[in-house]
Amino acid sequence: MSQSSPVDPAKLAAARAAVALVRDGMKLGLGTGSTASIMVRELAARVRDEGLSLRCAATSQATADLAESLGIRIATLDQIGWLDMTIDGADEVDPDLHLIKGGGGAHLREKIVAAASDRMVVIADPGKVVEQLGAFPLPVEVLQFGFETTRTLIRRALEGLDLGDRAVMQRLRGGDPWITDEGNFILDLHLEVIPDAPALARALSAIPGVVEHGLFLGMCDLTIIGKADGSVVELDREEGVDADLLAGERGWQS
Ligand code: 5RP
Repeated sequence: MSQSSPVDPAKLAAARAAVALVRDGMKLGLGTGSTASIMVRELAARVRDEGLSLRCAATSQATADLAESLGIRIATLDQIGWLDMTIDGADEVDPDLHLIKGGGGAHLREKIVAAASDRMVVIADPGKVVEQLGAFPLPVEVLQFGFETTRTLIRRALEGLDLGDRAVMQRLRGGDPWITDEGNFILDLHLEVIPDAPALARALSAIPGVVEHGLFLGMCDLTIIGKADGSVVELDREEGVDADLLAGERGWQS
């Protein structure tokens, strides 16, 4: 595996464990971010070494470019139709395997791809495990049209959830607005804690200028937490997550 920067061993362990789930002939969704990039490299190595025949859809242009550069052919989601599995990273994972995603600004395509998959597998390092979502600023992709109006409506929605004093910041890149692959802006909601994630998700989805928020509720089937020593802990939603085990992984008390 050749990469310019050193590979985080915890992310690598999670990525390898997820790639080990891939079988010849599968239709896969490829996530976005640093952990997903490691996964794409590991997947490319298996494709090369084992001659796996896969059909892959990417959750961002960056992932598509990386995969193609490593010899993984990318098709559009519509060309493939339905996916067996999507492997993606996350910014936060809670004990119910609810997620915050979108730190890389790709949560819109990530959610569409995950929703078109039999199984969503999340790969993460222990720092992503939280007792309650919200410390990571929640990304919300919004249309450029009526941007300030949408921000006002988001602030009002937050007031209704007793989160009215939280900052709603436009994401920038090099001083300019961050533009997503779909040509939209991103607002990062600095909520600190999200007491009722389903209520917040509903409130945000009801705002016309909101394209998609980064709350992934009930979508993740399996979370693989990699550790620095190369071992992994797997949390399966169907089997139920042992909160004490998860707390131990992160260091918080349940
Ligand atoms: C991109 C994402 C990423 O999966 C998330 O930000 C995690 O990234 P990383 O693996 O670099 O920590 O949601 O939109």
